[in-house]
Amino acid sequence: MNADPEVRKYLGELLTREQSDAAVALMQAEFDERSFGWWALEARETGEFIGRAGLDEVGEDMPFAGVDVGWRLKRSAWGHGYATEAALACLAFGFEALGLPEVVASTTVNNLRSQAVMRRIGMTQDPADDFEDPSVPEGPLRQCVLYRTPRRDAHGLHHAA
Ligand SMILES: CC(C)(COP(=O)(O)OP(=O)(O)OC[C@H]1O[C@@H](n2cnc3c(N)ncnc32)[C@H](O)[C@@H]1OP(=O)(O)O)[C@@H](O)C(=O)NCCC(=O)NCCS
Repeated sequence: MNADPEVRKYLGELLTREQSDAAVALMQAEFDERSFGWWALEARETGEFIGRAGLDEVGEDMPFAGVDVGWRLKRSAWGHGYATEAALACLAFGFEALGLPEVVASTTVNNLRSQAVMRRIGMTQDPADDFEDPSVPEGPLRQCVLYRTPRRDAHGLHHAA
């Protein structure tokens, strides 16, 4: 998945096996430390690994704060609604188990498939939140959009606080 140019199109350089394994080890360590993070995704029917989804703390160098939700599927798993299903489960965990007041999501302006997931799970975008990702080198991947959703229950109802 991390060595596939189509999957990495909006993420940056392709990863080697060693880099990908190191990223997984970091995700596991972070998960153990704070009890949330990235989950591996498996197809219910077959148990096959299809990608990852999860919650992460927004980096300190970003122009916004909080917890963001993200997703990445191997190419053969696109187009089945798996990212949407996983993202909704992540939001439910964030709001119900962690009690978060809000969850955000960001991606490059051109990553329309990822933005479609954001809209499908009920997140909304304010152009005033558009930002340049300081962790990305100068270039087309730097310009990003931000989506947000306030806390809500399993029926989609928003809470006042
Ligand atoms: C972003 C990414 C996860 C989106 O994957 P996706 O398959 O398009 O998204 P979903 O899993 O929500 O599936 C939606 C598609 O499945 C279809 N679908 C089929 N059954 C469905 C169901 N039961 N429920 C919802 N959608 C369903 C939808 O119609 C939609 O199809 P479309 O793309 O033709 O409109 C994927 O493109 C990816 O991994 N990209 C590379 C990594 C990346 O950029 N990650 C995001 C970084 S911010």
